[in-house]
Amino acid sequence: MQFKTRTHTCGELRENNIGENVVLNGWVDTRRDLGGLIFIDLRDRYGITQIVFEPTFDKEAHEQASVLRNEFVISIEGKVRKRPEGTENAALPTGQVDIMVNKLIILNEAKTPPFPIKNEIDTSEDVRLKYRYLDLRRPAFQKNLLMRHKMYQLVRKYFDENNFVEVETPVLMKSTPEGARDYLVPSRIHKGKFYALPQSPQQYKQLLMVSGLDRYFQIVKCFRDEDLRADRQPEFTQIDVEMSFIDQENIFQVVEGLMKLLYKEIWDKELTLPLPRLSFNDAMEKYGSDKPDIRFDLEMVTLNHVFENTSFKVFQDHIKNKGVITGMVAPGCGEYTRNQLDVLTDFVKKQGAGGLIWMRVKDNELDAPIAKFLTDDEKKNLTSALNAKPGDLIFILTGPRLKVLSIMGSLRMEMARRLELIKPDSAPKLLWVTDFPLFEWDEQTKRYYAMHHPFTSPRLEDVDFMESDPGRVRARAYDLVLNGSEVAGGSIRIHNADLQAKMFKALGISDEEAEYKFGFLMNAFKFGAPPHGGIAFGFDRMAMIFAGENSIRDVIAFPKTASAISLMDDAPSTVSEEQLKELYIKIR
Ligand code: AMO
Repeated sequence: MQFKTRTHTCGELRENNIGENVVLNGWVDTRRDLGGLIFIDLRDRYGITQIVFEPTFDKEAHEQASVLRNEFVISIEGKVRKRPEGTENAALPTGQVDIMVNKLIILNEAKTPPFPIKNEIDTSEDVRLKYRYLDLRRPAFQKNLLMRHKMYQLVRKYFDENNFVEVETPVLMKSTPEGARDYLVPSRIHKGKFYALPQSPQQYKQLLMVSGLDRYFQIVKCFRDEDLRADRQPEFTQIDVEMSFIDQENIFQVVEGLMKLLYKEIWDKELTLPLPRLSFNDAMEKYGSDKPDIRFDLEMVTLNHVFENTSFKVFQDHIKNKGVITGMVAPGCGEYTRNQLDVLTDFVKKQGAGGLIWMRVKDNELDAPIAKFLTDDEKKNLTSALNAKPGDLIFILTGPRLKVLSIMGSLRMEMARRLELIKPDSAPKLLWVTDFPLFEWDEQTKRYYAMHHPFTSPRLEDVDFMESDPGRVRARAYDLVLNGSEVAGGSIRIHNADLQAKMFKALGISDEEAEYKFGFLMNAFKFGAPPHGGIAFGFDRMAMIFAGENSIRDVIAFPKTASAISLMDDAPSTVSEEQLKELYIKIR
């Protein structure tokens, strides 16, 4: 069908266009028949313009318009007029004008869509994902994609202006699991061998430093076969960054500059620099999380010192075993019913706590099942350490340190939810968490794992403990946390083959295994590796927060479900016998 190129978009016409003859192309958003007149809201990415079919203005166009239905694709020609008095629409930028149509071309018809193409819909996400191309037609979604686009441009410009070089790294690489499970790709040419999709370009970016690139960045897809959550996808995008001849402060400066720019350009907010910093230890003790949400107070307090000489057996035992006693006040919750307290007890038990100690703060006493085991001094010191007031409720958890702190951290988030402490207009909170432990002990496999990844440098003053007391070694690693979400993480790297070998040893990785998996990197370090370090941002997570969404799927055009399925094209799917045969793969 022959049609004319548009003269304007559907978001463009204003009063100064009145009297002009124009051509618009777009989708029928809504249609109203009013006493012989047909009004259509015509929609494209840029907005909505009202068009009018009037028999006295153009009989033929009016007749043709009777078949138009929602989502038909049309091209129209007509004259812009001022809307009759009283019919202006202040909610639309084009709302002062409409177009009297004298030519209509139907470019394509449309079936009735499975859900309305408008912002507020209560359609299940599964249906929206199956018809993602229609979901993406909704203006709210287009707004998110446009914001994401703006973020790409800002990021590229920022790094370019700061002398960073964008380099693409391979998507088919050697399998060297970093923490999550690899996605594997069978090789047809090399029977029984596999490529892996990168969990991140970590090793490549380090090699680029050995190559002398000095400052690298890349907006890059990463792949991890892990359990999914609202803020995790099996394939996601990082802004990956690496720098040579730097220390942590240089990285912080570059990252803070970018965040300031994004705050300004996306949110029109001023970000005050430098950003606050919290050590991993303090973050755990105060907020029970290494990604603390500090948009609200509700701080935890470690109470071991209050109960140092206690005769209460439960506390005594945990102090003796290097455990923790942590407390938190729920302000004004002193009247919680037994039922409410049981629900919260269940909540912490589900996460592995033995139980929840609670106390109601009264004028001159603590009303609680365990009160009788505590001395008056202990009660007094407890109340003052927690700064608890009459009418408050005190929670106490005790047990192995990191485990119990993080359970109290979840209870903190749960109480924030119940007390509605996070308001839609709460100011966003961005901070650094620093000084992570280098190693993390895993009870199940009874061994240490790298908390960040095996290329992260220990604090040099802690290197001596790598063998004798690995749990005590701090890493030169840092995370950037926005509203309780880890939006970036990185570290200063090991750039010396001996220290790298020591690291592998501490992780229980044998020389042979290290050579097989990481030999190319270790080898490269022998040819003059500069000191280097970097960071990677979770781009989708940042976009989610900047867009004010709760799921990263809402800022990804074609995401997977929580069970890693693409409902639109049904991936993953079975493949033909032929394909499998070629790859020497047999399905059992
Ligand atoms: P890390 O594993 O911390 O570090 O990842 C960096 C950031 O990527 C985001 N992220 C994810 N986003 C969505 N879905 C996922 N499955 C997912 N996993 C991680 C997070 C996280 O902060 N190579 C190192 C970086 C470095 O050391 O420079 C790395 O990948 O926001």
